[in-house]
Amino acid sequence: MKNLNLQIELVVNPSETVLELLYLSDPSKVHINSNLRSGSCYIAKVKSEIVGVIVLGNINSNTTEIKNIAVKESEQGKGIGKLLLRYAEDIIRKSGNKKLIIGTGNSSIGQLALYQKEGFEIESIKKDFFLRNYDEIIIENGIQCKHMIVLGKKL
Ligand code: ACO
Ligand code: ACO
Repeated sequence: MKNLNLQIELVVNPSETVLELLYLSDPSKVHINSNLRSGSCYIAKVKSEIVGVIVLGNINSNTTEIKNIAVKESEQGKGIGKLLLRYAEDIIRKSGNKKLIIGTGNSSIGQLALYQKEGFEIESIKKDFFLRNYDEIIIENGIQCKHMIVLGKKL
């Protein structure tokens, strides 16, 4: 991974630019707003340009969930997503929590690859999660997104 000169910082009131990035990870404004209300939002900048975002939410005193992660489309595939995941791990480890989880759709082939390369392991499947919680049909990689695959990593 080349040196990306990434600066990551906590934001309390995410700007419209950050919200637009978050919608790449989840088309539901309701879900995004709920995640932002209950979680912590970190943005990644290169110089002054916002290139990525990650939202973390505590599930209990042991486990934190990565609720959303997104990288600006023109900057994807350059290692920013990996750095955001590693940054999240550092924060959670320092907070004393022992486990990080992340959920993604059955159709999200690239995301499933990334999370497993970063040491997350598949733990469970929430059957029909996207059918139950979203009004629109989601298709990715020619596959209908129906189920949520939950992956976890011990820290
Ligand atoms: N097969 C194998 N490996 C793959 C594939 C594939 N089909 N697709 C991606 N990868 C690998 C890449 O090879 C790379 O690993 P490598 O460095 O070992 O080669 C890795 O996945 C991608 O790493 P990054 O470049 O760090 O990732 P990026 O900066 O593009 O960020 C992200 C990843 C956040 C998923 C970005 O693509 C994005 O914003 N996508 C749209 C929003 C989204 O889907 N967010 C996640 C939704 S789930 C959630 O938010 C909890
Ligand atoms: N992301 C998205 N789609 C993908 C990806 C990817 N990373 N990789 C493959 N695909 C899609 C292709 O796009 C294609 O779909 P499309 O026609 O809609 O574009 C489809 O998967 C592949 O279709 P075919 O060309 O018909 O498949 P192929 O003739 O290559 O056969 C097989 C697949 C049997 C898995 C072959 O690659 C193979 O022999 N692999 C090695 C042996 C193996 O792994 N066998 C399966 C083990 S599990 C078991 O045996 C029960």
